[in-house]
Amino acid sequence: MDEKLLLRTDELSKAYWNGPEKTVALDNVSLQVRKGELLAVYGPSGSGKTTLLFLLGGFDKPTAGKVLLDGIEISNMDEHRLSRIRRTTVGFVFQNYNLVEELTVLENVKLTMMFEGKPEEEMKERTSELLDKVGLVGRERHRPSQLSAGEQQRVAIARALANRPRLVLMDEPTGNLDQDNSRALVQLVTSIIRGEGVTFVIATHNLEIVQGTPSRLFLNAGRVATDFISQS
Ligand SMILES: Nc1ncnc2c1ncn2[C@@H]1O[C@H](COP(=O)(O)OP(=O)(O)OP(=O)(O)O)[C@@H](O)[C@H]1O
Ligand SMILES: [Mg+2]
Repeated sequence: MDEKLLLRTDELSKAYWNGPEKTVALDNVSLQVRKGELLAVYGPSGSGKTTLLFLLGGFDKPTAGKVLLDGIEISNMDEHRLSRIRRTTVGFVFQNYNLVEELTVLENVKLTMMFEGKPEEEMKERTSELLDKVGLVGRERHRPSQLSAGEQQRVAIARALANRPRLVLMDEPTGNLDQDNSRALVQLVTSIIRGEGVTFVIATHNLEIVQGTPSRLFLNAGRVATDFISQS
């Protein structure tokens, strides 16, 4: 694999079975993402965006095809090795953020580092560095419910970055954001990519994000579709 590539899929497919009923969520998707790149995956509801992100991060297994992360095939990896990759190499920002309501902002960001058994001093430093990056200094002791949607999202980004992953996957990051916040998010992600050397894949149906991103993949009914922005 080209050493500049972080992620590659070869003819990736995923089908779900509900009894006799088969839903093809992803159909023969091949893509490549370079290190330090921001890829926007765009498509209508049900086109397979979340399914793709789950496969890219090793949260689910494909029905056919391969996922290679940093040259290593993760699509056929056993659960033990995969769970380590999910904790250390991949950061996931869920659509509903999945913050722990009982914990403060600070504790939410620390959580994934605690699972890795990082020393207290290192966790403290990394947490304050990240909260500074995402503009939440002064909000450390707030609970998620005391924050706006945009602020909660930034906590989720800080948490996803805590263990210095290579790849960050964000699912529908602008669903709850207005136009100004959507733009601010793209700027934040761009500055994080520069500062942390991380790679982002963002699934969205927000055209604003897609238009601001040179690298994009269009999905329709689980298949790679034509890039209608470049064509127009
Ligand atoms: N666990 C499941 N069982 C059966 N079908 C599923 C399952 N998860 C997803 N699907 C189907 O797979 C297809 C792709 O779903 P997916 O959630 O990946 O779409 P999406 O692009 O993320 O949509 P949205 O923009 O609404 O989040 C849909 O038809 C969906 O109904
Ligand atoms: Mg989705």
